[in-house]
Amino acid sequence: MASGGVATGSQLVAALALGADGVNMGTRFLATKEAPVHENVKQAILAASELDTRLVMRPLRNTERVLTNPAVERLLEKERTLGANLKFEDIITEVAGVYPKVMTEGAVDAGAWSCGMVVGLIHDIPTCKELIDGMMADAKAIIRGRLDALLDA
Ligand SMILES: Cc1cc2nc3c(=O)[nH]c(=O)nc-3n(C[C@H](O)[C@H](O)[C@H](O)COP(=O)(O)O)c2cc1C
Repeated sequence: MASGGVATGSQLVAALALGADGVNMGTRFLATKEAPVHENVKQAILAASELDTRLVMRPLRNTERVLTNPAVERLLEKERTLGANLKFEDIITEVAGVYPKVMTEGAVDAGAWSCGMVVGLIHDIPTCKELIDGMMADAKAIIRGRLDALLDA
């Protein structure tokens, strides 16, 4: 399974070409009708570009890619200031207990929450069926329309 960085039919085809049997998608499924998360989370994903994620907690060897917001920028400032002396306790307000606030209450600036760079490729909130059908149609069009031609070349 290829996991991480997949949100489109072309990325699915690329993963299959590299030898994967399938793909796992995290961020893309957050922005679907069925995803049991607050509407604010889905809208934050639509509004974000590929430049809006940050890597946090690297000094603690617990790296997580998250959507940026003021709490995340505060966290990163602490990482820069404290350097090797950073401890989990220093950033606990930005990372602990964040998910219920973000995902259930819709407080998307409450702290750091996981989000991949594929966020920049997400522009709609389809049903899961629409998402998968669309990706499969795109993948088939790429294989038949582009890659199939290689066989006769
Ligand atoms: C809401 C959410 C929660 C996540 N929680 C974790 C986690 O607890 N541990 C972890 O290793 N990765 C976590 N991830 C990262 C996923 O492993 C990552 O999203 C996955 O590799 C798929 O990548 P993608 O988001 O680019 O599709 C989370 C991702 C999302 C979107």
